[in-house]
Amino acid sequence: MEEDTKKVFIKNFGCQMNVYDSELVAGILSAQGYTIISDEHTADIVLIVGCTVREHAEKRALGYLQQVLARKKRNKELVVGLLGCLGQWAGSNLQEKLPELDIIAGPDAYRNLPALLKHLPEKSFVALENSLEDYDDIQPLRRRDGASAYIAIMRGCNHRCGYCVVPYMRGSERSRPTKSILAETENLVATGVKEIFLIGQNVNSYQYNGADFPALLDAVSGVSGVKRIRFTTSHPKNLSEKLVEVIRDRENVCSHIHLPLQSGSDRVLSAMGREYTVERYLSLISLLRREIPEVSITTDIISGYPGETVDDHQKTLDLIRMVEFDGAFTFKYSPRLNTPAFKLKDDVPEAEKIRRLNEISNLQRKITERKNKLFIGKTVTVLVEIASKRSDNDVLGRTDCGRNVIIHNQKLPIGTLCTANITAATSQTLLGAFQSILK
Ligand code: 5AD
Ligand code: SF4
Repeated sequence: MEEDTKKVFIKNFGCQMNVYDSELVAGILSAQGYTIISDEHTADIVLIVGCTVREHAEKRALGYLQQVLARKKRNKELVVGLLGCLGQWAGSNLQEKLPELDIIAGPDAYRNLPALLKHLPEKSFVALENSLEDYDDIQPLRRRDGASAYIAIMRGCNHRCGYCVVPYMRGSERSRPTKSILAETENLVATGVKEIFLIGQNVNSYQYNGADFPALLDAVSGVSGVKRIRFTTSHPKNLSEKLVEVIRDRENVCSHIHLPLQSGSDRVLSAMGREYTVERYLSLISLLRREIPEVSITTDIISGYPGETVDDHQKTLDLIRMVEFDGAFTFKYSPRLNTPAFKLKDDVPEAEKIRRLNEISNLQRKITERKNKLFIGKTVTVLVEIASKRSDNDVLGRTDCGRNVIIHNQKLPIGTLCTANITAATSQTLLGAFQSILK
């Protein structure tokens, strides 16, 4: 039983789904007696949950892998594994190039990890074909003490957006049974979690035995002790009026929606295969703002998609000005192997992609800052999520609408729901003076 005492360090890169995946892996391995540790230097096994969504993300994870493999040269006993989307990709692309790697496992192969670890070095690689895996019976092991916890409600994606590698790494969409999502919610609440963050590649297409996403959201919001619920990501194509009603009517469902736009040009949206027009997107924004006046709307935008002209780029800027998003993640187009867009000519020069990206992010930063400053003098509700790294006296939390707040000079336990008066704001954060604790 020597394996059973082995220490595992899990390093995570990429999106919330990878965070959840590392919690699943921790759950699977700790149930077999492995110890999950947070000091990578004393680990017997290092597992890297890597991301492939853009070249930059992939390079970061591969850079870290090289560091760990250099350590393995000095300590031959060290076991190194590559998991997540990067594991799936590496299964077909990296095995010969990196023979030092002991384990490769894609997002649907985590159940095999204990067997792979036991049988080293005989059986080293596994990258499953797309499966129906939903890890429904696995108890994830949360690695951070915090007020908020992720629950994956679905895995995979059935959309085929031109730029996106996710469906090829994570397979087709499958929804998890409502019952087990509710059970996981209850378990988390019992351990002190206040905020449930429902995640999936496209939560709006959740479908299980007739229950759709609005029905699921409504059910989770009814679990006793759930103070807040957030969710991401929503494809505009699948956003329903029913969902807007649940956000409006359920007090503990946060008034925040992340609704990736990607481009403000119909021509580019169509080339990306996004299946909505600017007009349709704007009608969703109107619906959201009419029904939920305080709603905060954030988005994702890509600059320099193949064929994007200066005129298309201007249309994106115009739309950003018109919608005035509360925040945006902006990216320059990164060609990804096997995606539909990979076959297209990557014809926007790198310098021009960066110029457009900067123009978009500078514009959005000003809008975010202006909107954040509107909070100065107002009282907001804050859920305290973590202690500040900079000062022992400060805590960090978020408003219902998802804005980061630093509460100054007040030691509050993680998970406290309180009110604060906003005294200053930047494009990143609000600064708040503590007022009172809410029940
Ligand atoms: N290049 C640039 N950005 C991308 N995204 C996804 N794939 C790519 C790519 N190949 C962005 C999209 C998506 C977000 C998660 O990442 O904006 O919404
Ligand atoms: Fe990728 Fe599109 Fe699916 Fe989102 S909806 S994961 S962008 S294919």
